[in-house]
Amino acid sequence: MSENINILAIESSCDETAAAVVRNGREVLSNVIYSQIDLHTLYGGVVPEIASRKHIDKINQVVQKAIDDSGLKLEEMNAVAVTYGPGLVGPLLVGVSFAKALAYGADLPIVGVHHIEGHICANYIANPELEPPFMCLVVSGGHTHLVKVTDYGKYEIIGKTEDDAAGEAFDKVARSIGLGYPGGPKIDKVSKEGNPEAIKFPRAKVGGSEYDFSFSGLKSSVLNYLNTASMNNETIVTEDVAASFQQAVIDVLVGHSMDAVEKYGFSKFAIAGGVASNSGLRKAFEDECAKRNVQFFLPPPILCTDNAAMIGAAAFYEYKNGVRHGLDLNAIPNLKLGEKYQ
Ligand code: KG4
Ligand code: ZN
Repeated sequence: MSENINILAIESSCDETAAAVVRNGREVLSNVIYSQIDLHTLYGGVVPEIASRKHIDKINQVVQKAIDDSGLKLEEMNAVAVTYGPGLVGPLLVGVSFAKALAYGADLPIVGVHHIEGHICANYIANPELEPPFMCLVVSGGHTHLVKVTDYGKYEIIGKTEDDAAGEAFDKVARSIGLGYPGGPKIDKVSKEGNPEAIKFPRAKVGGSEYDFSFSGLKSSVLNYLNTASMNNETIVTEDVAASFQQAVIDVLVGHSMDAVEKYGFSKFAIAGGVASNSGLRKAFEDECAKRNVQFFLPPPILCTDNAAMIGAAAFYEYKNGVRHGLDLNAIPNLKLGEKYQ
């Protein structure tokens, strides 16, 4: 049997300080996440400088706990992996600098990982039988990408948002209906009590690729609805607004994804990213994939939102492909998927 590859992975691109140890890209030996959400809730969104400072505070403890929980010693790792983009520059720099120092001290190679590649690879952890090729919808706070995963580490983006990301739309609409930050989980929860047919919000068509998305029109339409209703002294049923907005997002995401799966002839479809933990979206994809006889893969919610286990999974395939980064590895806030820095 071939030797096990144990990777210590670090993720700090936004407001989660996370570290994990992953074996052979699929087996999670430890997964530690320190979420800063409570801190940023006070400000209605992530404040980059506060996030950077909190990462500095926590990263030592989080990484140490990930090593301890794994039952391995630092010397037993084969590499240190770290998210180097995309994300907020300050938070990314904390993780990258820490990973470089740790790798240098322990004489281990460094593997820099693309955050979105990490989200996609969360599916390998949750579904040990999953292998490329498959189509994947990545829906997070900063990205909405429809991606052909043609092989391990090989991605082709066939659709993306022209304006707001899906998660961003959830967060902005939640704020406008008084649910606060982070909006996604709150809209998900109150939508269960609302009628998704109550208000007919638009399902946007965009000018670019037929698989591109746009959510800013939908967001404006929710704001217009709220303004008009309050000017006319009409009662606003928050649950109905949330459920109708969520349904509009689901219809567009599911519609584009299923069209693309059919057009490109994929038999496997996966979802990834924070918004992939939305219960309505998960159910809609489950139903639509079953109708089409397409195998559907999805990580559990804890592996959808930011974590380092997904970075360890992605790093394993990069490591096997020979990717090693030097001590000049830098944070790249706008790193594109498929673009490699070596
Ligand atoms: O992937 P993620 O943790 O961080 C980024 O890489 O951006 O995604 C965070 C986003 C936020 O916009 C959050 O509101 C959204 O994912 N989100 C959800 C749910 N849980 C998190 N959106 C809809 N429904 C949810 N249950
Ligand atoms: Zn993310």
